[in-house]
Amino acid sequence: MKKEIGIIGLGVMGCALARNFGRNGISLALYNRHLSGSEEKVALRAIQEHTELKKAQGFEEVKEFIEALERPRKIILMVTAGEAVDHLLSSLSGLLHPGDLIIDGGNSDFKSTEKRLNTLLDSGVLFLGLGVSGGEEGALNGPSLMAGGSREAYELAHPYLSRIAAITPSTNKALAYFGSGGSGHFVKMVHNAIEYAEMQLIAEAYLFLRNVLGMKTDEIGAVFDAWKASHSKSYLLEITSEILQTKDEHGFVLDRIAPIASYNQTGASALIEGALSGQPLSMVASALFTRFISNQKPPQAEVSSLKRTHSKTISIETLHKAYAFARIVNHYQHFSMINASAYHYRWDIKPNDLCEVWSAGCIIRSSLLERLAQAKTVETPLFFNSEIQSELSTSKEELKAVLNAAYQSDIALPGLSNALNYYLQLTADDPSAALVQAQRDYFGAHGVYFKEEANRLVHYPWKA
Ligand code: 6PG
Repeated sequence: MKKEIGIIGLGVMGCALARNFGRNGISLALYNRHLSGSEEKVALRAIQEHTELKKAQGFEEVKEFIEALERPRKIILMVTAGEAVDHLLSSLSGLLHPGDLIIDGGNSDFKSTEKRLNTLLDSGVLFLGLGVSGGEEGALNGPSLMAGGSREAYELAHPYLSRIAAITPSTNKALAYFGSGGSGHFVKMVHNAIEYAEMQLIAEAYLFLRNVLGMKTDEIGAVFDAWKASHSKSYLLEITSEILQTKDEHGFVLDRIAPIASYNQTGASALIEGALSGQPLSMVASALFTRFISNQKPPQAEVSSLKRTHSKTISIETLHKAYAFARIVNHYQHFSMINASAYHYRWDIKPNDLCEVWSAGCIIRSSLLERLAQAKTVETPLFFNSEIQSELSTSKEELKAVLNAAYQSDIALPGLSNALNYYLQLTADDPSAALVQAQRDYFGAHGVYFKEEANRLVHYPWKA
């Protein structure tokens, strides 16, 4: 019997996804390359180790793998984004037929996905860019899946993907099609940008509780435990409170981890795409730059000479409100970007669908997204409802208090302060851009818009 789905790449994510398909009764052919000494019989070993894979067939030869699949073939690539994808596409191209489908389930750059789609167009081989979120646990038990490419490709994949996707709180599948081209990978890239800033905001709350309020690691864990039972409930908060309470014979594990944070490409890609399309993604910028700075820190001696005073003047509830404020700004920035890009690239990305797909399985799932998913309006940005507006205008004061206290203790909170700056810039009377535009006009004759005629660009004779 030929197999329904082929998976290429049995690393952590590929193997977990394969087990999910296997558990859901989908027959599988599994391929992993052979690299002497490092990757040998990987597919075969996965099959032996996991009962869900006992009916799967393992391969190290691409041709045999392809021949084991029913037509039209449906092949999922679970390999590192970048060259590996192109390399595989060129080795598969001669072996596939029109109507066969390749799904790229990695964190590929959405513009590369668009190029790959165009390259495959003449061959008639279908291609789907699929954002897969949820880490190993999500891939195994129910990921959030974000698809983009041709409708035909999505329809061929849908019956299989829908069996493995997470189930959302409103009992839908965490699976959606967002349009042509690289839309699926674009949505996943923005998901990751939100993820970066969500992680950063939790890390800043931790820093504040530790270095400003002088709390101990497990006490901070207890604070996050309480927050995760509130409107701030999120997967990232849940795992953070577990991390903070994890102890071994040497004490808290977190206290022994060097403060150096790494990154792959999606955060930077989101920031660049945002910058190129005029979207001020300051929340992901602050998260990403904080990771960069963590790799550039001066030697420990200099770091420890910084001021360490503990102020108890801010309550944990005040910090909680400041944190909630910044999370709304983070989501607002990224949903604004999605709206703008969906319009630009002609993708059918509905904010409510996004909230739904992101309300289960993925890393950024949270009660905030569930709440946004329930909002009925699609055209107007979800955040302009009066409830959220009034929340922001009251918790703004708490955020200021937190930032003041942090600066008193020489603590930088870039995510939280960017959230406040962004909000103030959006909402306050701010004529500074008028001055910048006048400067541009003065030295470069770029023109200015006068208030009484805001659609007409005119050069003012400054030097006359
Ligand atoms: C997910 C994650 C996952 C991965 C990212 C994180 O949704 O499951 O986003 O895709 O964790 O690669 O990016 P960094 O490695 O850059 O932190």
